[in-house]
Amino acid sequence: MKTKEIFDLAIKTGIEADLRGEKEVEKFLQRKKKKYESMKDKEFFDVEALENPYLDSRILHIAEDKEIKKILFGIDLTTAEIILAKELGGVDLIISHHPLGKGLAHLADVMALQADVLNQYGVPINVAEGLMRERISEVARGVNSANHQRTVDAAKLLGFNLMCLHTVCDNLAASFLKELIEKQEIETIGDLLAILRKIPEHKKAMEIGAGPKVFVGTEDNSCGKIAITEITGGTEGSSKLYEKMAQAGIGTVIGMHQSEEHRKQAEQSNINVVIAGHMSSDSLGINLFLDKLEGIEIIPCSGLTRVSRI
Ligand SMILES: [Fe+2]
Repeated sequence: MKTKEIFDLAIKTGIEADLRGEKEVEKFLQRKKKKYESMKDKEFFDVEALENPYLDSRILHIAEDKEIKKILFGIDLTTAEIILAKELGGVDLIISHHPLGKGLAHLADVMALQADVLNQYGVPINVAEGLMRERISEVARGVNSANHQRTVDAAKLLGFNLMCLHTVCDNLAASFLKELIEKQEIETIGDLLAILRKIPEHKKAMEIGAGPKVFVGTEDNSCGKIAITEITGGTEGSSKLYEKMAQAGIGTVIGMHQSEEHRKQAEQSNINVVIAGHMSSDSLGINLFLDKLEGIEIIPCSGLTRVSRI
């Protein structure tokens, strides 16, 4: 496989695992097309948005369009990992999980996904969209100051192929978790923790003290309805949503990580929060994708714990 084939497979896999369902993803793309067609000044429109529903996942540089035999894959990539690839030798493609370059600049674009997922759990769409709109613009302003191209520039200078795969992998982690928790009766937070701790990536994280933890609630608390609303969709949503989630009947939220402000709001709304772990949850989604790349050697780095399920 070449770089573009790996990327296309990632997008296809991300769409198949999307919690909104493939039809909703298609509608999302259609809305972008309509917007594009009605625009007078198209010069700076990101035309990739017409095909790719995950603008935080991108091909960032193709130095040499060759058959990929060895990939260096890390969760956060900096110039250090690019130099590491050079030192290791024989790396054909470098992949970052967290967005870089134009993927980072467009991180906020994937967050609309969260409103649709919240709606599936019973939060009225107008409320979810309204609160997310505010948060999306906050995130867009937040990433504006970043040095977007720093790692991309390093890859260009050293002649490496580079891409980032963010929401496509997070979608895989989210659908895996949703399926896992929906196929069994889970009564208490303690039961939920035990299930999460059996997932190999989380089990390994526990060895370094980073496994699943209860952020709000106690192990004796009843889970109620468990929602997978914080595993995919860019980054943390609005902290004002917890009250609306409680009103919609959600009892417990599973997340990858959580800010203190969000934790406090969840606590005030009596929503239990189980944090599965950031690097281990990211690893889970990445591994589910990497299992599809048969015959390609993977060198995990920068927090990725490689577990194969094939
Ligand atoms: Fe992450």
